[in-house]
Amino acid sequence: MASIIPSAHLADVRYEIRGALTRRARELEAAGLDIIKLNIGNPGRYGFEAPAHLREAIASHLHDSEAYGHEQGLEIAREAIAAQQHRRGAQGVEPERIFIGNGVSELIDLSLRALLQPGDEVLLPSPDYPLWSAATILNGGQPRYYRCLAANAHFPDPQEIESLITPRTRALVLINPNNPTGAVYPRALLQQLVAIAARHRLLLLADEIYDEILYDGATFQPLAEIAADLPCLSFGGLSKVHRACGYRVGWMSLSGDPVHTRAYRDALQLLAALRLCANVTAQWAVAPALQDAPTIGALTAPGGRLHDARDAVLRGVAGSDYLDLVAPHGALYAFPQVRVDRFASFDDEVFALRLLEEESVLVGPGSSFNLPRSRHFRLTLLPSSAQLREVFVRVERVLARMASEQPLQSAGVAA
Ligand SMILES: Cc1ncc(COP(=O)(O)O)c(C=O)c1O
Repeated sequence: MASIIPSAHLADVRYEIRGALTRRARELEAAGLDIIKLNIGNPGRYGFEAPAHLREAIASHLHDSEAYGHEQGLEIAREAIAAQQHRRGAQGVEPERIFIGNGVSELIDLSLRALLQPGDEVLLPSPDYPLWSAATILNGGQPRYYRCLAANAHFPDPQEIESLITPRTRALVLINPNNPTGAVYPRALLQQLVAIAARHRLLLLADEIYDEILYDGATFQPLAEIAADLPCLSFGGLSKVHRACGYRVGWMSLSGDPVHTRAYRDALQLLAALRLCANVTAQWAVAPALQDAPTIGALTAPGGRLHDARDAVLRGVAGSDYLDLVAPHGALYAFPQVRVDRFASFDDEVFALRLLEEESVLVGPGSSFNLPRSRHFRLTLLPSSAQLREVFVRVERVLARMASEQPLQSAGVAA
């Protein structure tokens, strides 16, 4: 029988966060090993729960969830999202410019599918959340990466971004607060980036799914408020802030001048209609999630579980002979790197595999996030602080072994 050949579009598409390393971790688990998994930001897997009133809202509307709903999402949910966007200073966000999807994931794809012609370019961060690259490629576009270097606090460099723009560039993607780095962008930086988008007529795509997950007094600046009448699509959802990844509810809201975004809005609506509607059941949780008092602050404030987990990571790195870290100020991850003075060269994929095989800890190597020649790895802040302390003991053991195996000429100068 002839083999079934998959689409050539997939040749450059990767999602290593659930890739080969994760498959190997499953094999090890099946063989009876206890693996500490730090590779996915999935709160429900670490004992976090969605707020009870969201669950109750869904349960009490089960009977109202059996028919297809509006292609853009339940009216009551879109009204709550519009009200949130108005409070944040976004211009012109009405329920008809809001789209609810099966997670932000579905909407990332939809937003790019409605935008791109073959060969169009999209400015993406490196490191990125890899779905943005995958969706760009799958929709015929070309990623153009701007760097968010640790040496620059993982902030983008506006000059570099502007230098990457060509006549084919259509959109600028910002992930703020950032996955995987935890950077939270200051207002002045966002103002510069919006000015670039204005000069070059780029659509702003603001992935703000971690908008309320903030540490150490950091403040979140919604991009839409600064963008004012420029076209901006802002993404949010229930997965992270409301700890309900499995509900699969995300939204995007289109702000800015309604005349110039009309055709794009209509294209989004057509694509939304083609997939009929998002899962109706879980959309009942949106209005209570956005209208009632926020619940995430208790977890990120001193004494809260995420706060303490972040603290354990900061201490783990401070006590390490090999690691450096730009402290994360938002989101659910830390992105440490191995110091150049300890390892002249470093293969993050070899390290991640050894950490799994030798110490039963699963992390994402930095290169999984479209970061070439990475010395980084990403871990989530979701486990308990005790578990994270144990993780750093194991990380240190692997790094010590790798350091002792380095060829003499490339061993770190400080070793
Ligand atoms: C930056 C970013 N955007 C989007 C998503 C997708 O989220 P959802 O569960 O809403 O599909 C994730 C998930 O980890 C993410 O980190």
